[in-house]
Amino acid sequence: MLTIKKHIAEKLWDKYSSLCENPSLSADELAGFLEYPPDDKLGDLAFPCFKLSKELRKAPPAIAAALSEGLSDGIIKEATVAGGYLNLRINPEYLAGKLLPEILEKGESYGSFDFGKGKTVVLDYSSPNVAKPFHIGHLGTTVIGHSLKMLYQFVGYKCIGVNHLGDWGTQFGKMIVAYKKWGDHDAVERGQCDELVALYVKFHEEAEKHPELEDEARREFTKLEHHDEENMKLWKWFIDISIREYQKTYDQLGITFDSYKGESFYYDRVPAVVDELRAKGLLKIDDGASIVDLEKYGMPPCLILKNDGSSIYPSRDIAAAIYRKETYDFDKCVYVTSAGQSLHFRQWFKVVELMGYDWAKDLIHVPYGTVSINGSKLSTRAGNVVILKELFAESIEKVKEIMTEKNPDLENKDEIAEAVGVGAIVFYYLSNSRIKDINFVLEDALNFDGNTGPYAQYTYARTCSLISKAGGVPDIKPDAADITDPTEAELLKTLSIFPEKVLSAIDELEPSVIARYILDVCAVFNRFYHECQIVTAPDARVRDFRVALTAAVKNVLGAAFGLICMKKTEKI
Ligand code: ARG
Repeated sequence: MLTIKKHIAEKLWDKYSSLCENPSLSADELAGFLEYPPDDKLGDLAFPCFKLSKELRKAPPAIAAALSEGLSDGIIKEATVAGGYLNLRINPEYLAGKLLPEILEKGESYGSFDFGKGKTVVLDYSSPNVAKPFHIGHLGTTVIGHSLKMLYQFVGYKCIGVNHLGDWGTQFGKMIVAYKKWGDHDAVERGQCDELVALYVKFHEEAEKHPELEDEARREFTKLEHHDEENMKLWKWFIDISIREYQKTYDQLGITFDSYKGESFYYDRVPAVVDELRAKGLLKIDDGASIVDLEKYGMPPCLILKNDGSSIYPSRDIAAAIYRKETYDFDKCVYVTSAGQSLHFRQWFKVVELMGYDWAKDLIHVPYGTVSINGSKLSTRAGNVVILKELFAESIEKVKEIMTEKNPDLENKDEIAEAVGVGAIVFYYLSNSRIKDINFVLEDALNFDGNTGPYAQYTYARTCSLISKAGGVPDIKPDAADITDPTEAELLKTLSIFPEKVLSAIDELEPSVIARYILDVCAVFNRFYHECQIVTAPDARVRDFRVALTAAVKNVLGAAFGLICMKKTEKI
């Protein structure tokens, strides 16, 4: 699909390339210079000509004049010179006659692309540590990871979502000791992760008084490494219990994974990696541990085996990457974790490169900032950790209270409250740039009148109710004459930008681009709603056009919600 920016950039490029011998810039680069001015009085888009003045050896106004010739067409209505800028107007005929029918016809696939076709992306996200709390720190990886999966799918890639569970490590020795000493089968079945966490916490409390418990835990873990039957059974059960519980959170978010192969899956594959590293002369022994020296690259060494010979996080990641390349032949493998793990990824990506794998360049780490909580009374037995399911539950409860006040007769209240309560948290989170640290304030996330998820879902529900009041989407052939109010043109222009937002979100691996765009659409739509009579418009043609416009907004919002794991609510 050709975006408006691309279309303009290609035409500009034709002109620009005729003005110089060896054009140094591509059409894509010109597209990157195009701006949407904050005030559209002068134009809908603007091209800053000073960007070309050095190369073309001309003053910007002269360049603007040269570029403006012959630009008008079905999409560009006019191009006018304003100092060093070339201002462009989008043709209303295009907006009403082409774009609107296209959005109505394509539905929620408007804005999608197919340039990823035939390529595969593996996305490693969520990946909680089993039998430890699924806390708010995992919210980022879960929702950013899933949004990126949806975005990649939207542009045609085949996506494999992997939940790389932290299901291996010495903590399982501790869990086994704790369960054998103080655990109760039924209590764990009933209490699930809470009970497992309680046992884990108890282990640490007791181990402070009785340090010998640590040795016992190490012994139990060694037994597990040697496939001791009883310990294997317990370990598998802990994982099972944990996944069953995570599943509830994933269901609330509408997230599924294509693979749950966690760290334990790679345990057997590490020795082959170690042999390969040794054969390639990359392995060094340092204080009994096996490492890859990365001093040359300004990084501390990458630890491969501990001094007791056991595998460790980075070595399992290397084994996993090799396995994924063999299994999925990915074009990209994306890892979403907190920025605290950036060095870890830089280190082992380098090791893969040193091993001679050219696909090391296709490994991408997507870091995000930390979350702190403010104004929420949440605390748990595990200390000051905020458990995600508790945060969701509190949010859903609050939404129910608000809804009971606003709309007491609402049907399916529970289902809607869940979609809105969870959506509020997801939206609040994703509307921030991912790398920024976030201070989470539940009350702000739930403000129906602010720039929030509930506000966006409310706007979506408004489009649904208008369409249903109108008795469906009318079948019309709109044209420029149908645009009678400035908010209609503004709305169409805003909808025309969606494909460009999808591209920016992918380029920057930044779901916040979509979240913020949703707010733009909602703001313009609500202005249109307040300015214009829609279903009640006296003229049938005006009414049909406005309902069609409302349906286009519904399609774009629906698609955009899907890209950021927010459920659609037809009624609130
Ligand atoms: N389990 C890890 C944690 O909770 C995240 C794993 C990320 N994925 C990876 N392949 N290292 O911190």
